[in-house]
Amino acid sequence: MFLRVLFPFSNTLKNRQRLLLSVVWFSLSFHVFVLVSSKPLAVACGSSGGKDEDGRNWEPDQKFLKTSGSTTQLQADYQDPSLLTIIPYMNARIFTSPATYRFPIKSKEQYLVRFHFYPSAYPNFNISNSFFSVTAGGLTLMNNFSAEITCKALTQAYLVREYSLAPSDSEFLNVTFTPSTKYTNSFAFVNGIELISMPNLFGETTVVGYDSSDLDVSSENFQTMFRLNVGGQFIPPSNDSGGLLRSWYNDDPYIFGSANGIHTEANKHVRINYEQLSRSSAPEDVYRTAREMGLDCDLNLKFNLTWLFQVDANFTYIVRLHFCEFKYDMANQRVFNIYINNQSAQSDPTPADIFAWTGGMGIPTYRDYAISVNDGTGDEMIRIQMSPSTESKPQYYDSLLNGIEIFKLNDENKNLAGSNPQPSSMLLEAGNEPPKSFEPKSNHSFVIAGAAGGVAAAFVVVALAFLAYRERKRGGFDSHTSSWLPLGNSHATKSNSSNASALVQGLSRRFSISEIRQATRNFDDSNVIGVGGFGKVYKGVIEGGTKVAVKRSNPSSEQGINEFETEVGMLSKLRHKHLVSLIGFCEDGGEMCLVYDYMALGTFREHLYNNKKPHLSWKQRLEICIGAARGLHYLHTGAKYTIIHRDVKTTNILLDEKWVAKVSDFGLSKTGPGMSQGHISTMVKGSFGYLDPEYFRRQQLTEKSDVYSFGVVLFEALCARPVLNPSLPKEQVSLADWALLCHKNGTLEDISDPHLKGKIDQACLQKFTDTAVKCLSDQGIERPNMGDVLWNLEFALQLQESSDTAGGSIERDTPASRDSDERSQRQGNSSQGSDIELNEELNNQDDIFSQLFHPQGR
Ligand SMILES: *[C@@H]1O[C@H](CO)[C@@H](O)[C@H](O)[C@H]1NC(C)=O
Ligand SMILES: *[C@@H]1O[C@H](CO)[C@@H](O)[C@H](O)[C@H]1NC(C)=O
Ligand SMILES: *[C@@H]1O[C@H](CO)[C@@H](O)[C@H](O)[C@H]1NC(C)=O
Ligand SMILES: *[C@@H]1O[C@H](CO)[C@@H](O)[C@H](O)[C@H]1NC(C)=O
Ligand SMILES: *[C@@H]1O[C@H](CO)[C@@H](O)[C@H](O)[C@H]1NC(C)=O
Ligand SMILES: *[C@@H]1O[C@H](CO)[C@@H](O)[C@H](O)[C@H]1NC(C)=O
Ligand SMILES: *[C@@H]1O[C@H](CO)[C@@H](O)[C@H](O)[C@H]1NC(C)=O
Ligand SMILES: *[C@@H]1O[C@H](CO)[C@@H](O)[C@H](O)[C@H]1NC(C)=O
Ligand SMILES: *[C@@H]1O[C@H](CO)[C@@H](O)[C@H](O)[C@H]1NC(C)=O
Ligand SMILES: *[C@@H]1O[C@H](CO)[C@@H](O)[C@H](O)[C@H]1NC(C)=O
Ligand SMILES: *[C@@H]1O[C@H](CO)[C@@H](O)[C@H](O)[C@H]1NC(C)=O
Repeated sequence: MFLRVLFPFSNTLKNRQRLLLSVVWFSLSFHVFVLVSSKPLAVACGSSGGKDEDGRNWEPDQKFLKTSGSTTQLQADYQDPSLLTIIPYMNARIFTSPATYRFPIKSKEQYLVRFHFYPSAYPNFNISNSFFSVTAGGLTLMNNFSAEITCKALTQAYLVREYSLAPSDSEFLNVTFTPSTKYTNSFAFVNGIELISMPNLFGETTVVGYDSSDLDVSSENFQTMFRLNVGGQFIPPSNDSGGLLRSWYNDDPYIFGSANGIHTEANKHVRINYEQLSRSSAPEDVYRTAREMGLDCDLNLKFNLTWLFQVDANFTYIVRLHFCEFKYDMANQRVFNIYINNQSAQSDPTPADIFAWTGGMGIPTYRDYAISVNDGTGDEMIRIQMSPSTESKPQYYDSLLNGIEIFKLNDENKNLAGSNPQPSSMLLEAGNEPPKSFEPKSNHSFVIAGAAGGVAAAFVVVALAFLAYRERKRGGFDSHTSSWLPLGNSHATKSNSSNASALVQGLSRRFSISEIRQATRNFDDSNVIGVGGFGKVYKGVIEGGTKVAVKRSNPSSEQGINEFETEVGMLSKLRHKHLVSLIGFCEDGGEMCLVYDYMALGTFREHLYNNKKPHLSWKQRLEICIGAARGLHYLHTGAKYTIIHRDVKTTNILLDEKWVAKVSDFGLSKTGPGMSQGHISTMVKGSFGYLDPEYFRRQQLTEKSDVYSFGVVLFEALCARPVLNPSLPKEQVSLADWALLCHKNGTLEDISDPHLKGKIDQACLQKFTDTAVKCLSDQGIERPNMGDVLWNLEFALQLQESSDTAGGSIERDTPASRDSDERSQRQGNSSQGSDIELNEELNNQDDIFSQLFHPQGR
């Protein structure tokens, strides 16, 4: 009966597959009723428990601990700003000898186990010494595991590891932590453990590369490697289905190549019908969103939509693909081939036809494929590819995917442990010191490496703290491709399929590598002026004596072609007085370099604090902020597309020899919302301390995220202190939070730069801080746009100038006179689009101000 209902159109399917599907169907429907038979358990290790930010209750761990050895409960010294919740991360249970937790479980049930690790500084323990193994129910989950190294390689502050354990006969689950004996002072630790009973979602699996061979994995153990909501948003644990509290990530970072298809979403009236599938398999949001190849069928025939994942070698993986056809209502309309690691998983003569599989629109299903990944260069990857089937002659040449999960299958030794990832050489080179935040200075305070070293040092800190909102790759992270820009282009193309020259023809100059070598004295280290997302930055002189800054991609990293393309493509189209201009590029001899105008006076930050440079006057600071606001405003509105900078901070505001502020570093920039969407969804990027909390929560990027960061910049200019200073009392650590608090309290003046005492006009300060506070509004929608910000800052400057004039204490130290500034704006070339209109608007405003404040005229 099922077969009739399920497979009205499935003539093309092999009998074996039909049978297999119905087996899966039975096992799933059976387990629906078993679901939620026992409550999920969440244990906060080393603490007395409590509620996390989601309101979930975490129990103390003492009663589960069955050990004779010594254990210690400790509180982390430092709360990383990316920790969104104190429980369970801020407390840890530390084991110096083997120790076991014993959890009551129901026999014959499958369990999901999650471990939470926050490798921070704990009093009297050096986290670098922590190597340990974890076993559960006779299975090795981790071995010689270093949470610190793993987090460092992933550039994230904390780590979640998830396993599904096969049903057992036991009424207890023993989880044993064993510190490594190979290291002195080694210890094990854990911050939180979750235990959730789940329906057994595993069964028969097609083995890729072996025709007609199936594998029954229903009684195996797995580690979750990846879980992605393809073409959709991040789904937090609270929105998962079946009470399994899983996180589903966006798949953008895993798309390989430039052809990345298009996002698509089910029409509102399409109902997702779970009748063939357990609700636990995936939440509705996964099935309502998908990625397609595109609208141009001829183009679709020419490429594979490709995802790439790094995994541990010598394991078999189960690749689960979730499908739900919500657009077409007949079989043989959308039929496509699926390849995994270049082998056919589901391709002609048995291609994927979702409608034929499910027999209806809005009916979700999934398929499991087993693939073994062996050791060998470049082999530690899983590559999923899709292209339209041609043999079946479908109506539309397109493919569709809604979700991906990748599970690692335990090997024959009951082992799931891989080796620790290796932080990329770039990361090691740039930060041969450990992240400062982990290094105790005194018992309870930490230093973030100050911006003393200028761009380089500041960037290192920022990069190490670089957003790692959640674990992106839970398991295997392969050394040679781990990336300096961890959340974005970790799988940048290795070949030189890119052709940047086509992007920039006629827009920028192409340099040969010998010209670049000459300019930078063969990349002499003494010429290094910074380290950026793309690689090292060198000072250089090209012929004619023009000083330039050369960004060189790290040749050993094989990284960055994507970033390179982004920067070249983006920058060459952008010309603006307040943006750092690209002079040219070099793609030659295996090198990729970008050549920029040299900014003689360095970063805005180095003129604000932690440096011996003379203090900037208030008016100078205002003018720099105004310049930067102009640059950002142009990015948001002036170019053809909205461009969101994504990493606005004082080290990305550079100053030329005339003190003109220029916004730099578009390595992270993405083209902003199209006409309809209003936001782009993406993995969170940016720098701690500047990061828009809304972006953080929802992973939706709008230009208002830049406005938030700019608000932080404004306070940094006023207060001349780092945006994050963990050595201060808790409420003062984050400048944004502290400034808002002081603003509420009316004590902002107390925290502003002492060098500005008595020099700021009250009305000007009021205007300035009001603007900054509005920029920091929690909701993007409440924040002003950059045009408004610019207007208000101009206003504040007028207030300051008129007060200076009236008070007789005219500041003559203005680096670049505003008049000349305005003039050169007007002279700017016509490609500046709306920026010019804006300036005209502002000039009119200036006239009004002039009449108000300078009755004698200017
Ligand atoms: C922690 O141990 C590492 C390596 O054993 C060492 O380099 C580092 O200095 C130690 N840190 C502290 C604070 O003792
Ligand atoms: C768990 O450990 C206890 C002792 O702590 C032992 O009695 C029990 O047999 C173990 N259970 C399993 C399934 O290993
Ligand atoms: C989670 O679900 C709630 C209620 O359905 C919804 O309002 C919220 O937007 C969802 N959150 C995310 C991040 O999808
Ligand atoms: C994988 O197995 C091969 C052969 O047994 C071994 O030489 C290699 O070191 C293993 N690789 C890893 C990463 O364990
Ligand atoms: C699959 O093919 C691509 C491109 O031809 C190649 O780079 C890659 O190494 C192949 N992967 C495997 C697992 O054979
Ligand atoms: C897609 O990938 C598969 C497997 O790597 C390959 O055989 C096929 O030729 C590719 N198709 C296109 C259009 O590139
Ligand atoms: C343990 O891990 C560290 C760091 O990845 C590695 O250097 C070391 O060789 C490993 N030790 C063993 C015994 O595998
Ligand atoms: C830090 O340790 C010193 C002595 O080593 C002690 O006097 C001081 O009170 C401690 N500070 C804190 C915040 O615990
Ligand atoms: C890049 O392409 C050129 C020719 O187009 C070729 O000579 C060169 O070997 C390629 N480099 C790499 C790293 O593939
Ligand atoms: C790159 O673009 C240039 C100019 O359009 C073209 O001449 C060249 O053949 C292209 N190279 C490749 C490898 O596509
Ligand atoms: C707010 O002001 C009151 C009185 O002026 C002061 O006692 C308190 O410490 C202030 N709080 C903050 C957070 O500045």
